[in-house]
Amino acid sequence: MLAGSIKLCTIALDTDERGFGHQNSDAKLPPVRTAFVLDMAEDRPIQTLAVDIGGSGTKVMVLDEEGNPVTERERVETPQPAKPELMIAAIVELAKGKTFDRVSVGFPGVVKAGVTKTAANVDAEWIDFDLANTLSQRLSKPVRVINDADMQGLGAIAGHGLELVITLGTGFGGALFLDGKLIPNLEPGHHEFRKGDTYEEQLGNAALEAVGKKKWNDRLQKAIASLEHLFNYDMLYLGGGNAKHITFELPHNAKIVPNISGLLGGIALWREAEVGAKGRG
Ligand code: BGC
Repeated sequence: MLAGSIKLCTIALDTDERGFGHQNSDAKLPPVRTAFVLDMAEDRPIQTLAVDIGGSGTKVMVLDEEGNPVTERERVETPQPAKPELMIAAIVELAKGKTFDRVSVGFPGVVKAGVTKTAANVDAEWIDFDLANTLSQRLSKPVRVINDADMQGLGAIAGHGLELVITLGTGFGGALFLDGKLIPNLEPGHHEFRKGDTYEEQLGNAALEAVGKKKWNDRLQKAIASLEHLFNYDMLYLGGGNAKHITFELPHNAKIVPNISGLLGGIALWREAEVGAKGRG
């Protein structure tokens, strides 16, 4: 298990079919996809580089084992066209000079086993792109990738009951958790909402710019009512860069979470993997 400070130890990591992976300190389990060996000669806790890839901005921050920030959050404009090579180069550049042992990435699309499967707000070259392995080779570190709303949710939820997270940014993201367990790749954004439009068409950033804050807020209130009828969640979290534009009073079972949760979830992503590994053990 990756906890406490580590001195001259070797840890093998391998990735399971969900892309979450697990650690095996004896290195006895056969790797399923990719194996990494971390040799850490420094006497210091594990550090994680959290990366939040967005349609407009890409953000990074290094986290300690408790998920506390070790560095400032840094943001660069997502390169346009938002093709894999350019975006990976931007992440490698942001990672330069930072000390980290592993990497967590939130990607704005469906992700399975480290491979990006959809690309609504980024270039179509991302469809079926092996982001985890490609970035891992470039940074020489183990990399885990999940959907950006899933990662944001991991950084925001309480871990009790049915919790729904929606993210309001370039796109419209969603993540669902039952007692802290992620049900991955919920895609409400491309589901029909009203007047033949999807949630993303009515509430994504382009819609906010087109119709203005008042109308966007009216729509969001309707969306919350619709999602509550559908999911009957115990708590709804609203994240993403545009959550700051909410002007109406939220229902008692809804709250705004800071945008930084999108990066803080990078630590829970590895904890989730450890829980999974224990479950299989
Ligand atoms: C994508 C989701 C993503 C959301 C927020 C949507 O267009 O389909 O996967 O979570 O945007 O980035």
